[in-house]
Amino acid sequence: MQIYEALKKDHDTLKPLLAQLVNAGGESAEVRSQLIDQIRDELVPHSRAEEAVFYNSLRQIDEVSDLAWHGYTEHAEAEAMLRTLQVMDKVNADWTAIATKLKEALEHHIAEEEGKIFNAAKQVLADEEAEMMATAFEQLKGEVQEQSFMQNTLDMIANMMPTRFADKLRSFNHRV
Ligand SMILES: [Fe+2]
Ligand SMILES: [Fe+2]
Repeated sequence: MQIYEALKKDHDTLKPLLAQLVNAGGESAEVRSQLIDQIRDELVPHSRAEEAVFYNSLRQIDEVSDLAWHGYTEHAEAEAMLRTLQVMDKVNADWTAIATKLKEALEHHIAEEEGKIFNAAKQVLADEEAEMMATAFEQLKGEVQEQSFMQNTLDMIANMMPTRFADKLRSFNHRV
């Protein structure tokens, strides 16, 4: 499996949850909170691992570095909206409005990744590199799910990365 397929698999899991979210305005606070937690548990490990493995590598390549930075900002925006929903304790028009905005923002982000970013990445990454990235992505996502960004794990992931990208992952490691 290549990184593109691994990322798309997660996107396909996320999309129906977003559709559920915009229709959840009338549900109890408990049901809405569970749904938000479910989206968070899908989105956050995906985004952290995608940044570390895919974006941090693309940043090193002139032709695609702008696209990667753009992706980072969209992750931050989506997570801010998700946190807002999480702390709103009553249903009103704003809750559904923010849920709709989040769904649209993430659908736009996913379409851009699977379109512009994948196409650009395929021009610069060898198939073998894209395969190594898929393995590194799945490993790292598992670690983020357990919320342990341990140094030894990132070192292990860095070792799994294509050599020309590994140093960047190690310098990311020292910032966390
Ligand atoms: Fe993604
Ligand atoms: Fe993303």
